[in-house]
Amino acid sequence: MTVLGLAVLTMACSRPEPAAIALPVSEPAAAQTEAATSDPSLPPTFSAQAAYKHVQHLAVTIGSRPAGTAKEAEAADYIAGELRRYGYTVEKQPFDFEAYRARGATFEYLGPLGAIPEQARPVEFSPGGEVTGRLVPAGIGRPEEFQPAVKGEIALVERGTLTFGDKVANAKAAGAAAVVIYNNGAGEFQGWTLPDMGAIPAVAVSQDTGLLWLRRATEQAPEVRVSVDARSRKIESQNVVAKGGANCRVVVGGHYDSVEAGPGANDNASGTSVTLELARALRDRAARDGLCFIAFGSEELGLWGSRRYVESLSDDQKHDMAAMINLDMVGVGDRWSPAGSASLRELILDAAAAAGMAATSYGSERRGSDHAPFIQAGIPAVFFYRQTDPNYHTADDRAEFVDPTALEAAGKAAIGVIERLVGRGD
Ligand code: BES
Ligand code: ZN
Repeated sequence: MTVLGLAVLTMACSRPEPAAIALPVSEPAAAQTEAATSDPSLPPTFSAQAAYKHVQHLAVTIGSRPAGTAKEAEAADYIAGELRRYGYTVEKQPFDFEAYRARGATFEYLGPLGAIPEQARPVEFSPGGEVTGRLVPAGIGRPEEFQPAVKGEIALVERGTLTFGDKVANAKAAGAAAVVIYNNGAGEFQGWTLPDMGAIPAVAVSQDTGLLWLRRATEQAPEVRVSVDARSRKIESQNVVAKGGANCRVVVGGHYDSVEAGPGANDNASGTSVTLELARALRDRAARDGLCFIAFGSEELGLWGSRRYVESLSDDQKHDMAAMINLDMVGVGDRWSPAGSASLRELILDAAAAAGMAATSYGSERRGSDHAPFIQAGIPAVFFYRQTDPNYHTADDRAEFVDPTALEAAGKAAIGVIERLVGRGD
């Protein structure tokens, strides 16, 4: 048995790549921002120009802000600095997590005529690595099904009854160096996942492949090689939390990280900027109304910032929260999609209409953004975003495509929701 490099290296985040088509904006955005400033002494009304200036700072001056990078941290400093200037108590909430990505896997028979590959896929959260050894059948992976001969070799296990996590843990406990899991029915064998990082490489194969090799392994213990190309690394990130007073009745926020591929002007400098401008415009009533403003880190790698923030809340704090308002991708597109908890449906649609969002539909909560952990914890949430951004997660998600008028509509709709929840504040 040989074990080569259990790799724990860098991880790159990649997303689906939509076509890079530039959306026209009504006027050159740069011209509209000449007079922009986020001077705290501006009047307490939402300024599209001030919001757009934040987009430029985040997406142009700083640029791409992938989770865990110095650029993400620089953006956090900028956001914290702005919120402090408006008079808030600001805290960074640091957190870390293990980011994982599997690119592929192989399963090969090392015969006298050379290596013969079979189709294989990585089991999610298998560590990376390459193992050569004898293939030893082990039933469905119950502890008693592993023969002593599996020690240092590769276990062949059928899917079913036990979880993938238990099968891999049992294989490791029996001394196996890797596991091949084959399907227990025809069809796809991807998307299989361990509950957390596995101890040894695990690859998935089809039922046909599994049964073929089960027969051969029962006859002679063939020499095979499995490899998983996967990387994981520790990401250190932070939320930026601004509180008007001691309690948060309403949390307004959005994520400030971006994908690696581009500057994330719409996704999500736009929502971050509206959050900042709302914090400035509402600063005089934030303490009385319990308004909090949060920029979430590391959304793009799995909603980490919002999940960690929600986890940090006590039951009382959750209970006191009337709503979370998530702003994500509010600067590009041709129509609004107000969405959120069913209990807030009428309120949200009313606020959206009053803000000039000609909403044609009310989406139920969309999973892939920072409102989801709040809803999961029983906190009502609102999600404002615009459909459809042709530059989503590409290098062309640039500030020039962000429409300041859309930022303003998002700001007004958020204020409308706040007023309907906690009163008008005058
Ligand atoms: N900003 C997007 C979510 C989104 C997409 C909002 C389209 C509005 C319109 C977000 O940053 C994202 O990419 N989310 C991922 C899931 C997340 C858990 C990585 C997604 O939607 O695929
Ligand atoms: Zn986003």
